[in-house]
Amino acid sequence: MSGGEKLVEQVHALLAAPRPWSVTQAGDPVLRRTAEPYDGQLPDSLLRDLLDAMFRHLPGVGVGLAAPQVGIPLALAVIEDTAEVPPEIAAERERVPQPPLELVNPVATPLGSGYRAFYEGCLSVEGFTAVVARHARVRLSALDGGGRPYEMELSGWPAHIAQHETDHLNGVLYLDRAEPRSLSTTGNYERFWAPRPAP
Ligand code: CO
Repeated sequence: MSGGEKLVEQVHALLAAPRPWSVTQAGDPVLRRTAEPYDGQLPDSLLRDLLDAMFRHLPGVGVGLAAPQVGIPLALAVIEDTAEVPPEIAAERERVPQPPLELVNPVATPLGSGYRAFYEGCLSVEGFTAVVARHARVRLSALDGGGRPYEMELSGWPAHIAQHETDHLNGVLYLDRAEPRSLSTTGNYERFWAPRPAP
């Protein structure tokens, strides 16, 4: 079987798998490999179905998903943040809603020299969160699912998400960039570190 045929078979198996999908956890080598650039390895309709299914995985679970996290070693990711969070958190994280965005072969290029630090989590590192400093502004260059190139500038929380997902496609986890002493279980984050409404 060729590499392309194997990928097609893997995607069909994923689409047939019960939801919610189990997301690959840290330690699985697929998360540490550089994803293969997307170059038509899947039929157009299958790529469309895969991206749509990745979006359907997100609500209530996360704000981004990269294909290697569901075992597909291609440079594909999706981002969507409906930002239904308390205003305190929205303000602290510069968290504005991010409409659905398809990232095919994405590259995030820093703009300026500013950094912002926010708590991040990852579907592949269940149960934990830690502070990560990332470029405050980036230019995201990618293709959409229809193969159309686009570029956009992102800042604040959306810039963090784009860098987090692009990192996944390069075999990098947010923990690699995190401040180790900030590591917290999500329960303890809520208990001790989450922003509180003003009294
Ligand atoms: Co992640």
